[in-house]
Amino acid sequence: WGEEGHYTVCKIAQARLSNIAAEAVKELLPKSAENDLASMCSWPDNVRKQFPWSASLHFANTPDTCNYQNERDCMDARTGAKGRCVVGAITNYTNQLLHYGSNTESTYNLTESLLFLSHLVGDIHQPLHCGFLSDKGGNTIIVQWFANKTNLHQVWDNSIIESEVERFYNSDLGEFIDAIQTNITKVWGTQVEEWENCSSDDIACPITYASESIEDACKWAYKDAAEGSVLQDEYFQTRFPIINLRLAQGGIRLAAILNRIFDKHQYTM
Ligand code: ADE
Ligand code: ZN
Ligand code: ZN
Repeated sequence: WGEEGHYTVCKIAQARLSNIAAEAVKELLPKSAENDLASMCSWPDNVRKQFPWSASLHFANTPDTCNYQNERDCMDARTGAKGRCVVGAITNYTNQLLHYGSNTESTYNLTESLLFLSHLVGDIHQPLHCGFLSDKGGNTIIVQWFANKTNLHQVWDNSIIESEVERFYNSDLGEFIDAIQTNITKVWGTQVEEWENCSSDDIACPITYASESIEDACKWAYKDAAEGSVLQDEYFQTRFPIINLRLAQGGIRLAAILNRIFDKHQYTM
């Protein structure tokens, strides 16, 4: 996602934290963030140049298939290093945060762990962050978004959200977030618990999130969006509900993961 997508996911998440998790997040955030996780959720994108090792952690790619296989698909395509994709990184930063409050805490910079985890749980819900390797998750597919030349990945990171906020919410991102939060209770209420829970008693289940994303990428993102396509009203109207759902799921799951991490820590102290 771009700035708005990450801000939305983290705003939804922070509002759903348990008291214990909210306290830990407050303590881990830099003072300058004024206890606003959302204001820091794009930080990992802003340090991609300073931390070249982190670039591959934002996504995973399949060999142009519509299913995700972790053993096959989770690696840094440049170096071939296994586990260095968004799925492995979510597991890794979750495990680091479990050290919060213990005497091994200083081994890690847990502020960075929190910011990476919060950002990457957002990214893994962007369907094209688990897209095809041959087109770099839609980055090499040049398309037109209404009158503008862009690429398919950018359409899903930014353009659809920006058009939606402008058209339906008077360019007010806060109104957009409020509308998603209303949908969470009024429309998706019965499914929220399923989204929160992992099938086993894992703290996070990134393979599930990645599998959903590649399925949505095939069914919605790549469909009718070949190189050179002009994407406009029909594509917009049929895809923005998918994006709203993925942003909601990202926020709900980030909160559930942080609640499990910090509530667990309370019992193991
Ligand atoms: N961003 C940069 N490279 C990417 C890729 N291969 N897949 C998804 N997002 C990316
Ligand atoms: Zn992206
Ligand atoms: Zn990212």
